[in-house]
Amino acid sequence: MKLGYKKDIQTMISEVSSNEAIDHVRIMNDEGFITYSSQLNEIGKHINLVSPHHIHFNLQKLNHRHIDLFSESNIYSAIEPIFNKPECRTCHDDEKVIAYLDVDTDLTKAEVKFQTGSLHILFLAAVIILIMLGGLYLIFNQLINKPLNKFLFAFTDVGQGKLDTQLNIKNEGEIGTLAKNFNLMVKQLRQSKDEIDELHFKQLMHADRLTTIGEMTSQLAHEINNHTGIILSRADYIQLEAAVDPNLSKIKDDLDVISNQIEKVSTVTRHILRHSKLNSVEFKNIDLKKISKNAINTLQPVLKKKDINIITDYTDDSTIIFGDAYQLEQVFVNLINNASDSIIKKGEVKISINKDNGKIKIIVTDNGGGITPELLDQIFHPFFTTKEGDKGTGLGLYIIKNIIEHHKGSIKCESLVGRGTKFIILLKGVDD
Ligand SMILES: Nc1ncnc2c1ncn2[C@@H]1O[C@H](COP(=O)(O)OP(=O)(O)O)[C@@H](O)[C@H]1O
Ligand SMILES: [Mg+2]
Repeated sequence: MKLGYKKDIQTMISEVSSNEAIDHVRIMNDEGFITYSSQLNEIGKHINLVSPHHIHFNLQKLNHRHIDLFSESNIYSAIEPIFNKPECRTCHDDEKVIAYLDVDTDLTKAEVKFQTGSLHILFLAAVIILIMLGGLYLIFNQLINKPLNKFLFAFTDVGQGKLDTQLNIKNEGEIGTLAKNFNLMVKQLRQSKDEIDELHFKQLMHADRLTTIGEMTSQLAHEINNHTGIILSRADYIQLEAAVDPNLSKIKDDLDVISNQIEKVSTVTRHILRHSKLNSVEFKNIDLKKISKNAINTLQPVLKKKDINIITDYTDDSTIIFGDAYQLEQVFVNLINNASDSIIKKGEVKISINKDNGKIKIIVTDNGGGITPELLDQIFHPFFTTKEGDKGTGLGLYIIKNIIEHHKGSIKCESLVGRGTKFIILLKGVDD
């Protein structure tokens, strides 16, 4: 060992022995004298003096590591011969072994240190596991839990009939594909429902028309009877006249009457046939005044029978709207029919079509029995009727409301029991 490095050796020994588990580090010569030690007061003393029984063998014969475990002090001792090397020859001549390194480890301290270390490792492992679990939860929450919750809410919404539900999941994986398919499925469901609703509504409208026709048929039979009666009596008269004074001019007048009556019959049947047809919807510019007149003509036999006077109050302004003629005629027919039903005998139905604040306002008023405030909220509900037997279907006002809404308009009802009822419709005119 070069002399200049002796200080370094002592420093190294101090550093190594600073480890809590190290009890002692010393270097001894072949006679057992301590040359370096972690305990400075040992230096220069013989090993047997500072630690009796520590060396219980011939030190000079030691040529390999010797290990001892002193159970009473729980010291683990390792003595290692330091062999001479060419670079040491300047100081140590031909000696084979130049010194002995004795490192004593205190096993109790080492065990404590090991246990503390283990505890630290365990704590660190627990922290790492917790962090990993937290991370996994975050990933699971972001990738699975959140989308799954969105699916759950969306399913509930669809189950409750909200068919405009769409999932907003921007995920490229399976969840994203699932969301896309879900959105497509709901879209198709909504389209199917819209188609069914439209078909259903068409059928309801047709059913309502058929009911009206049913009501009118008996009136029609009565009407046809009247006309054919006149035709027959005139024909009888011509026959009698012709028998005594065959005058051609008189026969001509009677023939005019006959053709007139036949014309009336054909007008009534024409209206009925037109009303009973299931027409396809066709939106075009139509004049509401003309539409209401058609409806009045269709219902003329019913109104005449009940002695109901129709009063019209039409504005000079344009009352042209973009709509479907047959649907709007059905609105007038249903409203006049209801008004007529509310009048027991002899009454008045007023139809006014005017401009109001840039909109076209239709008001149908009657002086019939009126509607109680409790029932007023229900009259637009499907199948709500106060009419007995086969007379009412409860679909008329429901259909009217739907038709008006299809035309982007509004309808409301005001009524006083014993005074009469008023239906007010607002529609957008083409000139507005
Ligand atoms: N002008 C009216 N006067 C009194 N009650 C009416 C009038 N219009 C509608 N109603 C009430 O609203 C109900 C529903 O009318 P509606 O939907 O046309 O069905 P329906 O005529 O087949 O009963 C009627 O049964 C009646 O009670
Ligand atoms: Mg009705």
